[in-house]
Formats: sequence, C-alpha cells, structure tokens
Amino acid sequence: MLSSTLSVVAIAAALLPATLAQTHTQCNPLNTTGCPNMPALGGNATFNFNDTMNDRIWEEKNAGKVDWSDKGTTFTITSRGESPMIQSSFYMLFGRLEVVMKAAKGKGIVSSAILQSECLDEIDWEFLGSNTTHLLTNYYGKGNTTYGNRGADFPFSNPQEDFHNYTVDWTKDRIQWWVDGKQLRELKYADALGGKNYPQTPMNIRLGVWAGGDTAHNDPGVVEWAGGETDFSQQPFQMTVQQVYAQDYTTGNVKEYSWENMDASGDWQKVKVIENKAGQQSTALTEIAKPHGVKNRWAALSKGAQIGIVAGVAGFVILSALFITFCCIKQRRAGRREWAALRAQEDKEAAELLAYKNQMASGKFGHGNDYYNRI
Ligand SMILES: *[C@@H]1O[C@H](CO)[C@@H](O)[C@H](O)[C@H]1NC(C)=O
Ligand SMILES: *[C@@H]1O[C@H](CO)[C@@H](O)[C@H](O)[C@H]1NC(C)=O
Ligand SMILES: *[C@@H]1O[C@H](CO)[C@@H](O)[C@H](O)[C@H]1NC(C)=O
Ligand SMILES: *[C@@H]1O[C@H](CO)[C@@H](O)[C@H](O)[C@H]1NC(C)=O
Ligand SMILES: *[C@@H]1O[C@H](CO)[C@@H](O)[C@H](O)[C@H]1NC(C)=O
Ligand SMILES: *[C@@H]1O[C@H](CO)[C@@H](O)[C@H](O)[C@H]1NC(C)=O
Repeated sequence: MLSSTLSVVAIAAALLPATLAQTHTQCNPLNTTGCPNMPALGGNATFNFNDTMNDRIWEEKNAGKVDWSDKGTTFTITSRGESPMIQSSFYMLFGRLEVVMKAAKGKGIVSSAILQSECLDEIDWEFLGSNTTHLLTNYYGKGNTTYGNRGADFPFSNPQEDFHNYTVDWTKDRIQWWVDGKQLRELKYADALGGKNYPQTPMNIRLGVWAGGDTAHNDPGVVEWAGGETDFSQQPFQMTVQQVYAQDYTTGNVKEYSWENMDASGDWQKVKVIENKAGQQSTALTEIAKPHGVKNRWAALSKGAQIGIVAGVAGFVILSALFITFCCIKQRRAGRREWAALRAQEDKEAAELLAYKNQMASGKFGHGNDYYNRI
C-alpha cells in the first residue's frame, strides 16, 4: 500500500464529472426492456498490443488514429475533435483488467483505461497529459455523476514517460486499483453509498485518449480539470498500450449476460448469466484463440500448407525467370509470329496463376481468403 492519503479531486471536479463519465447509453437496461445480451468473456485472455489487432474482439470508435506496431498500439490525436478509442466486444461480470500502457503528453489531453457497463457503471484510470506527478482513479454507479468522493488522485511519477502496469481487480465486495504490483486504492461495496453507487453490472474494456482541453467541445470546467486549453499545434498526442490482460470472474460455459431480469436497482444479482452447452467456451474465447493477422495465420498453417505455398510461389518465380530468359532468346531468334504466340502463352500462364489465386482465395487452400489477400 502506498501510504498516501486520498487526495480527493477538488471542488472543480464536483461541477464537471458529467462530461467525464458517459452520461447516456443506446439502451439503458435500468428503465428499458429488450436491451441486447452481452457476449461474455467467461475466462481469461492476454492481448499483445505490440502485435496485430484482433478486430473481431476490439472495435475502433471515434475519429483519430489507432495504429498497431511492435512498440505497442498507439492512439493518436492530431486535431480538434479526435478521441480515438477501442472497446472490447466481450463483457466481464466482476473481473480483472491489467493494462500496460504509457499515457499521452499534452496540456488538456486525457488518457484513459476504463471498464464500463451499459447502465453506466464505470471503473477508471485517467492520466492528464500535463500532470507528471499524479494519476487519477475514479468510479461511477449507474451513471450517477453527483459529486461524492468517487475520484481519488495519487502521486505517481511520469506516467507519460514509461510503460506501467495499471490493474483493476473487481469483485462483488470490493474494487482494487494496483500500479506495478502496489495497491493504491480499495473501494468496499458498502462505501459506495451503501452499494448503490457500486459498479456491479457486466462491463467491457475501453481504452483511448481524448482532449478535455478542447474548448470547442468541452465546458470550461472540464477544460480546467483536464489541465487547461489544448494547443493543437503541439500534436501528435499519443497514448501507447503494450499489453492487456482480461479475466472474467464469471467462468464455466458462460455465453452471454442478459438484462432480462434487471430493474432500476442495477443489482448484480439481477444480471442473468446465460450458459453455453457443457464444455463449450464463449465466442470471445474461441475468437481469441484463432490466429489473426498474416504472421500469426502463417504460423498457424500446417507445415504441409506452408511448404505448398512456398513451393507454389517459388515455382512461379522460377518459371517466370525461365520464361523471361526463354523469351529473350526466342525474341532474338524468332520472327514476329512466334513472339505473338509466346505472348499468348504468357497470357495463358497469367490466367492460370489467377485461377490458382482464386482457388486459394475461395478457401480450397485452408486459410486461403484472408491469408492470400494480405500477402
Ligand atoms: C432511462 O434513464 C435514462 C437516464 O436516466 C434517461 O436518459 C432515459 O430517458 C430513460 N429512458 C426511459 C425510456 O425512461
Ligand atoms: C487462464 O485460462 C487458462 C485456460 O482456461 C487457465 O489454464 C489459466 O490458469 C488461467 N489463468 C489465470 C491467471 O486465471
Ligand atoms: C510483444 O510483447 C510480448 C510480451 O512482452 C513479447 O513476448 C513479444 O515478443 C512481443 N512481440 C513483438 C512483435 O514485439
Ligand atoms: C496534478 O494533480 C494533482 C492532484 O490532482 C494536483 O494537486 C497538481 O496540482 C496537478 N499538477 C499539475 C501540474 O496540474
Ligand atoms: C448519487 O450519488 C450521490 C453522491 O454519492 C448521492 O448523494 C445520491 O443519492 C446518488 N443518487 C442516486 C439516485 O442514487
Ligand atoms: C500487473 O500487475 C499485477 C499485480 O498488480 C500482476 O499480477 C500482473 O502479473 C501484472 N501484469 C503484467 C502484464 O505485467
């Protein structure tokens, strides 16, 4: 435990959290029936964000760039109005989130790694681009943004300079915020307004960066909270995520979470857990286990398929070389008519190659389609 006292966000924060927390949702399950079921994670998964993104799991939202490289995944703001973020397609009903990330620099720029539910329960890590001495933790229950000692800032040096491991461990009884293996904060169920403000519905992961200092899009209170007006000539503003570990504490054949039995209470006991057939894991876990991206797909091909592809490509190259050589000799020797015949031959070969490609693309070669189109 860090021996810091909770330095609760100051008065200014009291006036503005409405804009920090999302205040509306497409289907609020607390007063609407028929909100869609949420796919469960139902297990654990590590995402190496220094590799390729699995776009069946992570959905990009908002304007701004999200790039994937071997340094990590970068979320970049280059101009006013951008707030690039990704969110997981899966949800967790209590669980653990570890994010290894580096916050963005820049006045008014807010980096965030949060868990959020469709009825606006929320658990946050936030970093202000111009604050190199503190980080912020926060939570919301059912979208209640009334000031109530939810936010707490902690001394922390230069989250914008280095990668750190920010972990949230969330059970029905308490929420813990950890940094690099040290616990910063614990919130007990009862301490969140007797549980009424305690996050307790299935949440997905949202990672991204936004400009709280964009005066065209935010109230003055938010701009002030975010550290002042953003100078967009200082762009790019960049947050980088290296790795994410997610663990759903609801496990065992979990398929989806449903709002079917939910009422205005927002109680976790009223979340219905829909199970798969025995022994069948969630769609998310199945998708996560599949290779994604060219490199991984290649690695996942059988040796035979790899050899087949290499041989096919090599064969084509050798044939082409021979063919070109042959052409040149032939061209020198042969007359116009023979040359024309050769061209016809070349066209035929090209057509054959196209047919071969199409055959691969149509899946006759196992991983054909996606794989071939991407090399
Ligand atoms: C449900 O509650 C939300 C948040 O309080 C509100 O914005 C919305 O209008 C309500 N919807 C219905 C159908 O009552
Ligand atoms: C993650 O899931 C795998 C497969 O179910 C399991 O073997 C492993 O123990 C889990 N790891 C953690 C940290 O729970
Ligand atoms: C990504 O990070 C993981 C864990 O740190 C490491 O094992 C892996 O080699 C890295 N991959 C790339 C492409 O750098
Ligand atoms: C950083 O945040 C802490 C805690 O909210 C605050 O006391 C401090 O003034 C901030 N520093 C800057 C440079 O904004
Ligand atoms: C919202 O939270 C505040 C502060 O904790 C509390 O006083 C208020 O009763 C809550 N509102 C509802 C509707 O629960
Ligand atoms: C992050 O820190 C937690 C402890 O706070 C540790 O259990 C976990 O292994 C760490 N994760 C990574 C990816 O380093």
